[in-house]
Amino acid sequence: MSLADTITETITGTSTGTSTGTSTGPAARTAPAAGSGAHTSPLIEARKLSISFGGIRAVDDVSFSVAKGEIFAIVGPNGAGKSTIFNLISRIYEPTSGRLIFEGEDITSVAPHTIARRGIARTFQNIELFEHATVLDNLLIGRHCRARPSILAEMLFTPGVRREELRHREAVEEVIDFLHLANYRDQRISGLPYGVRKVVELARALCAEPRLLLLDEPASGLNTEETEDVAFWIDDIKNDLGITVVMIEHDMSLVSAVSDRVLALNNGRTLALGTPAQVQSNPAVIEAYLGGDA
Ligand SMILES: Nc1ncnc2c1ncn2[C@@H]1O[C@H](COP(=O)(O)OP(=O)(O)OP(=O)(O)O)[C@@H](O)[C@H]1O
Ligand SMILES: [Mg+2]
Repeated sequence: MSLADTITETITGTSTGTSTGTSTGPAARTAPAAGSGAHTSPLIEARKLSISFGGIRAVDDVSFSVAKGEIFAIVGPNGAGKSTIFNLISRIYEPTSGRLIFEGEDITSVAPHTIARRGIARTFQNIELFEHATVLDNLLIGRHCRARPSILAEMLFTPGVRREELRHREAVEEVIDFLHLANYRDQRISGLPYGVRKVVELARALCAEPRLLLLDEPASGLNTEETEDVAFWIDDIKNDLGITVVMIEHDMSLVSAVSDRVLALNNGRTLALGTPAQVQSNPAVIEAYLGGDA
């Protein structure tokens, strides 16, 4: 359910839930409780972050901080600037102004290829996998940032290289077990249902062993049951793996189920920041969603 649907439902008492596709996960469990984590030190902070594209201020003076162990959602109508924030954190884009601090270190200008190694992994709004490679190969590619290549050692296939190769394969197998992907291990991505591809993309991000996981619309295109599975995965990722999650999502049922706090954006600017209930009832958020942009 989108935030616009939720707001409409709140006002009119109607529901617009949909169901299509294939489920792979533990949908039979009880829904996880949100807001249960103890939050102390910030893992990532955005300080007055801005970026312009031509005349468009895609992100305009946005500040937030996410505590270790928190599940933090970013919501907003199409074009609000949500994915741009992930592209700034991933260092795909250079901010016009503002700072990004990760684990107390300023990462605003660090080289993009160091981001994954520092402990930040992400999924993309449009799934980005190697279509003609198998699930296993895509996940091994996800280990790339953890590799310590020495061409000579690789050529000689030294015991150290063998040990490292084994370590990567074990890490990938753990993620395959964790996300129930064993049945798909040797299948090519191109032959998989959409819902399974979404889980594989999540798996690939987990293979990088992140401390911060950025999920760009993890439930988009999924049916109700698959969306419930995503809620459980996110809860397990937080509780079992100890990974902090920042999630962009239109589905407010998922946001409410798993998020501790929510940042609402519109036209690049902050509309509201608070608990899911506070943000959903915020007049500026309601206006943004019912005002024609959503
Ligand atoms: N590389 C770019 N060049 C020009 N404009 C861009 C670029 N990236 C983003 N924008 C613009 O910035 C604004 C915010 O885009 P963004 O993709 O962050 O929105 P979003 O909140 O993720 O929306 P959606 O829910 O549709 O995914 C939009 O107006 C978009 O067209
Ligand atoms: Mg987006």
